[in-house]
Amino acid sequence: MSDETISFIRKCRVCGGGRLQPVFDMGLMPLANALRTDKAPNQRYPLTLLFCEECTLVQIRETIDPSVLFSDNYLYYSSQSETAVSSARALAEKMIKSHDLQVGDLVMEAASNDGYLLKHYLASGASVIGVDPAREAAKIAAEVGVHTDVEFFSARYAEKYRDMVDVFHANNVLAHVQNQNDFVRGIEMVLRPGGVAVIEVPYLGKMISHREFDTIYHEHLCYFSLTSLQRLFSQHGLSIRHVDMLSIHGGSLRVFVMKGKATQSQETRDLLRLEQRDGMHLWNYYADFGARANMLGSDLWRLFDRIHRNRPDARISGYGAAAKGNQLLSYFDIDFLNSVIDSTPAKQGKYMSGVNTLISSPSHEYFGEKWTEHTDFVLILAWNFKEEIMAKHPDFKGKWIVPIPDVQLVHEGI
Ligand code: TYD
Ligand code: ZN
Repeated sequence: MSDETISFIRKCRVCGGGRLQPVFDMGLMPLANALRTDKAPNQRYPLTLLFCEECTLVQIRETIDPSVLFSDNYLYYSSQSETAVSSARALAEKMIKSHDLQVGDLVMEAASNDGYLLKHYLASGASVIGVDPAREAAKIAAEVGVHTDVEFFSARYAEKYRDMVDVFHANNVLAHVQNQNDFVRGIEMVLRPGGVAVIEVPYLGKMISHREFDTIYHEHLCYFSLTSLQRLFSQHGLSIRHVDMLSIHGGSLRVFVMKGKATQSQETRDLLRLEQRDGMHLWNYYADFGARANMLGSDLWRLFDRIHRNRPDARISGYGAAAKGNQLLSYFDIDFLNSVIDSTPAKQGKYMSGVNTLISSPSHEYFGEKWTEHTDFVLILAWNFKEEIMAKHPDFKGKWIVPIPDVQLVHEGI
């Protein structure tokens, strides 16, 4: 590990405070999206979750150099999920209506990917601009009419669009950016007075209560509560007007943010109060998270033991070569799955990042027969899509295993 590859923060990523308390030490973990083309082991790096006693932000201590994190073998894939596609359309339609968007208005998205969201704004006549460093995704976006600037959204980029944007989107990107303060400053700069920023982040409260430890990885630098988000936005002259709780990605917040002072919706006040009541602003709330996550490992291994005792030849596969799947298999050292099934062509034929398990297509066959006939158990690694996955394979004769929030055997799908 060269000195430049990894650095360790001593001060909070958002408030700069020095009172960072450890929450969960995951030991050495591979990069969650570094699928391998061969069985050569991946480099591992420490991964430690911390809590800032000053601004309440949960964050990781380690920062991996982006050129390593997003190197050639990092593949960013737009979602295969129908759930995600239909929720993007619904969001755009709602915003067009509520903000009466039309010709002359401007919608901007940071990390706009292949235009999956912005394309739904085109019908309104509003102009759209995507900002995303992924060149290939930008090309696909252009084909559907979404112009994309191939770079990271930042305060420097924002200079070009001062006070011009009516609706700004940042979907699952705030936790990934190297500098949260710079990114949020950029949002404040581009928003026109009366404009709105719609920001989605995985919800820390859900992660803790549902033991979603596998969503902790080196790309996710921060883990937000509404309380910590409010603090971050207020540092840059923004305020939260409204929040929706979404079920996507195992529980997410969608916050609506305005310039200056905004009247908080009832939902916003309620959630802030609830977080306060639960003690999310105190380290104690997080203290037993690691132990509770580790218990999932004991439960899974106990279940595998039982299965193998009863049926030594039982075939067990995984489903969903998600980043979180890599984390779960690596952390619990589950290295005996037959394969991990995933419908993303670019992942098929590669190996999971930390264990030597091959990724195969849902249509693959074992000895001329479909996996649905031959596999006895399937561990759903992309548990946030468990309903969609089970519904896709009504012909699967075996049992599904859901690992999170509790280890659960599902007999007949849904
Ligand atoms: P994703 O949601 O991107 O999770 P993460 O952020 O942890 O990487 O990953 C979901 C994975 O599951 C993705 O590789 C596609 C796969 N998948 C299927 O193969 N079939 C399906 O029906 C669904 C819903 C997902
Ligand atoms: Zn802080």
